[in-house]
Amino acid sequence: MDIAEIVLIMFTGLWLFIPAMLPNSAAAMVGGGTKIDLGRTWRGKRILGDGKTWRGLFGGGLAGVLIGLLMIGIASFWDPENYWGYGAFWSNVGILFCLSFGAIFGDLMGAFIKRRLGMERGQKAPVLDQYDFVFGAFLTTSIFFPNWVYSTFIEGWHIAALIFILALMFVIHRGVNIIGYRLGIKKEPW
Ligand code: CTP
Ligand code: MG
Repeated sequence: MDIAEIVLIMFTGLWLFIPAMLPNSAAAMVGGGTKIDLGRTWRGKRILGDGKTWRGLFGGGLAGVLIGLLMIGIASFWDPENYWGYGAFWSNVGILFCLSFGAIFGDLMGAFIKRRLGMERGQKAPVLDQYDFVFGAFLTTSIFFPNWVYSTFIEGWHIAALIFILALMFVIHRGVNIIGYRLGIKKEPW
């Protein structure tokens, strides 16, 4: 295994993870309207809070699936059998759904935990804010496509792809949120 092969593994992993990276930004753009928790509380605190809406859930989730389909379309010109790593088309559109809605689900879990800790909507929660969606995406995809997750992000040198994603997400999350804040899409720069 030489360096070039490891770098290819890392960037392939990052490419395949894009459908998990987009949903929460898309949710911030399209979100609003009916709250997922319908304003309800549990033990005196909101279940999820005003920052989590149905429109954000479905809009964000579908945005991730759509970008994934576009990526598969691009990859099909060069690699019509494996689509640069998603595998055979119909069996693996499911991966797109898992990555994308799993990322949304992770963000909801993060909000649930923040509310239990008594944190207000939009309050900064280091680590949780950066990694809740990564955890949700990997957890969901691992449940339905364990072999794919193992061979793409864990087996042998493929662990480099996972480490690369974990390291990069910290930087990208911060950068994307500052941009969203400047554009007026997000209320806080985190
Ligand atoms: N959003 C939404 N639905 C979702 C996720 C996000 O409508 N499922 C929108 C909300 O307008 C939210 C914004 O995207 O305010 C930014 O998302 P995020 O930073 O995750 O929410 P916060 O407002 O910071 O709330 P929390 O403290 O619960 O993270
Ligand atoms: Mg937030």
